[in-house]
Amino acid sequence: MELFKGAYEGAVTATSYAEILLAKAIKEYGADTPVKYPDTAYRLPVITALSGEEVNTIGDLAPILNRIRTTNIKEELTFENAKLNGEATLYAAEIIEALRYLNGAKPDKYPYTGFLSDPILRKFGVPLVDQTIPGVAVIIGKGKDSKSTAKLVKDLQAKGIMIMLANEVIEQCIEEGVKIGVDFITFPLGNFTQVIHAVNFAFRAGLAFGGIPAGQRERALEYQAKRVLAFVIQLGPNDIVKFAAEFGAIFMGFPVVTDQPVAEEIPDWYQSEPDYEKIGKLGLEMRGIKIKIVDIPVPITIGPAFEGETIRKKDAWVEFGGGRSTSFELVRMCDADQVEDGKIEVIGPEIDEMPEGSVFPLGIMVDIYGRKMQEDFEGVLERRVHYFINYGEGLWHVAQRNMMWVRIGKNAKAAGFKIKDLGEILIAKYKSDYPAIVDRVQVTIITDKDVIEDKIKIALEKYAARDARLKGLTDESVETYYSCTLCQSFAPNHVCIVSPERVGLCGAVSWLDAKASNEITPTGPNQPIEKGECMDPVKGSWKNLNDFIYTHSNRTVENVNFYTIMDSPMTSCGCFEAIMAILPLCNGIMITTREHGGETPCGMTFSALAGTCGGGVQTPGFMGIGRRYITSSKFIPADGGLGRIVWMPKELKEYLGQDLVDAAVRAGLGADFIDKIADETVGTTEDEILPFLEEKQHPALQMDPLM
Ligand code: SF4
Ligand code: NI
Ligand code: NI
Repeated sequence: MELFKGAYEGAVTATSYAEILLAKAIKEYGADTPVKYPDTAYRLPVITALSGEEVNTIGDLAPILNRIRTTNIKEELTFENAKLNGEATLYAAEIIEALRYLNGAKPDKYPYTGFLSDPILRKFGVPLVDQTIPGVAVIIGKGKDSKSTAKLVKDLQAKGIMIMLANEVIEQCIEEGVKIGVDFITFPLGNFTQVIHAVNFAFRAGLAFGGIPAGQRERALEYQAKRVLAFVIQLGPNDIVKFAAEFGAIFMGFPVVTDQPVAEEIPDWYQSEPDYEKIGKLGLEMRGIKIKIVDIPVPITIGPAFEGETIRKKDAWVEFGGGRSTSFELVRMCDADQVEDGKIEVIGPEIDEMPEGSVFPLGIMVDIYGRKMQEDFEGVLERRVHYFINYGEGLWHVAQRNMMWVRIGKNAKAAGFKIKDLGEILIAKYKSDYPAIVDRVQVTIITDKDVIEDKIKIALEKYAARDARLKGLTDESVETYYSCTLCQSFAPNHVCIVSPERVGLCGAVSWLDAKASNEITPTGPNQPIEKGECMDPVKGSWKNLNDFIYTHSNRTVENVNFYTIMDSPMTSCGCFEAIMAILPLCNGIMITTREHGGETPCGMTFSALAGTCGGGVQTPGFMGIGRRYITSSKFIPADGGLGRIVWMPKELKEYLGQDLVDAAVRAGLGADFIDKIADETVGTTEDEILPFLEEKQHPALQMDPLM
């Protein structure tokens, strides 16, 4: 068979090429030259996942390459052998690529991303498990023309698919103005062997979220087949090395669809579809990816790919709020007779009456009636406004409540976007995402500068009432916590327990979110658990919670203490916003974030730390957390609370800002506590920061020894 022959010859070529490059590198730099990708805890992830052989230097690669050639490259043309040839090709590509990163080289120039770091992988954990991103398409080669290729990519973006691009399709997308880059969940990896970064990204999901130990080949493959919903679209003329790489994808469980004629298709695995209108859909079908289509009658594309898009001032047709004008957004629960379903009213000028570059006020009032709606859900639903509007291509939304700031891009205006369309987006999304609690929605949008001053009073009153209610919402004041097992699709043994004062470690699920989501899907990932008998009030352990965790962690975690990092702490899946680690010398703990790439006083970067805790195992002394947990009054009280924090990156200090000052005052640490916390400008080793802590008389130094 032509395909199998290609896979065999391609594997021979790829491994020989790897051998040549490796020999050359050894000769040039020496066998002792260290080799690893930047900002990852998994070295060369393909090798780490599949064989677990330890690779430290380029010299270590030679025997590995030899082994895989001998065991995998088989001339007999069968499907099984083609997959083994594919596996060998993955090794070869990983080695070729890793050599590009020797001696700290940064080989990938704009627009190419090259290797995707661990923090990027972790960032997409939640959208992948909650199916905001329902799957991954790897598109390689060169499309028949730029226009239809761009359309193919844009259609997949609109469906929320994560996209990896390699070869000429990247230039074709750029030519047609398709928005690509990490911010758009569309990664232009590079040319040729750079496609391996899609593969090592996928393998890291198993290592980071699945908690699969290095070298467990069967489990690594099972994880890919079951949980990583990826497929390959091969465009344009193929060659033997590409054939071999495609069988590497099939080896992992990812089907391939091509626009080229294929003499003998392999049903479900290797099919041909020359029509660009159909090829994406066929790929999705072959991988069993189901997509919920919401038809929104607006002239712009709506999808998570555009959430990360920023619109600069000079690209904005009009902007609202952000301190330049009055703005607010409000979701209200209303009675049935107060809501006319689907009604959108704009009070004030439409976009055609707004000159280019102007500033207007904006009030968005979303009135919801639903039989199962509760006042508690208003805040939960209101925060969705941010995402829903941001999903619009050419729309930008930041902050919330009366701080919100919106820009409508010139491109959106040119496409015919109207202020009224904001209402169309919100109505469609609320009804499709929250069908169980939303029966009727109406939206009122205010752009009139007099009317808004009147209406904002309603909003401010609502916010104040909501805040007062939230203040009373403490761990003690409720009998029921909620589980979150959403991440089990990636981390099968991990269970988050969310309480009023502890947000899920992804930062995206609060107790109220979980409560609302349980109302929407009673059998879903958020289950109410009555705490029951308290086993340890100081460390925070309850019988019913432990029973739940034990059952739902596949009997791997028996006891969790909520209020400590030291003894049976909560487990992590892998998509934590921040990680805490103890610093024995300073008698305190440090926190680093996914955004902070630098070294930290525990001797590890975020990526390295993240590699030590994840996959649903308990690691005393380390814990993944959501950022907002830090200012909670239930922040590790059993270990001394907030006063234990001795180090965090500046970025986190700025992010927490006044909340951190307020929390410190509440904890009796004083408003200047934030200044006693060291950051990277003070030092990145324990020795460097200790004198600073002593000078500032940091409270942790007076506390009981941590260990
Ligand atoms: Fe995942 Fe936990 Fe966030 Fe749920 S709360 S989405 S399980 S990290
Ligand atoms: Ni946007
Ligand atoms: Ni997670």
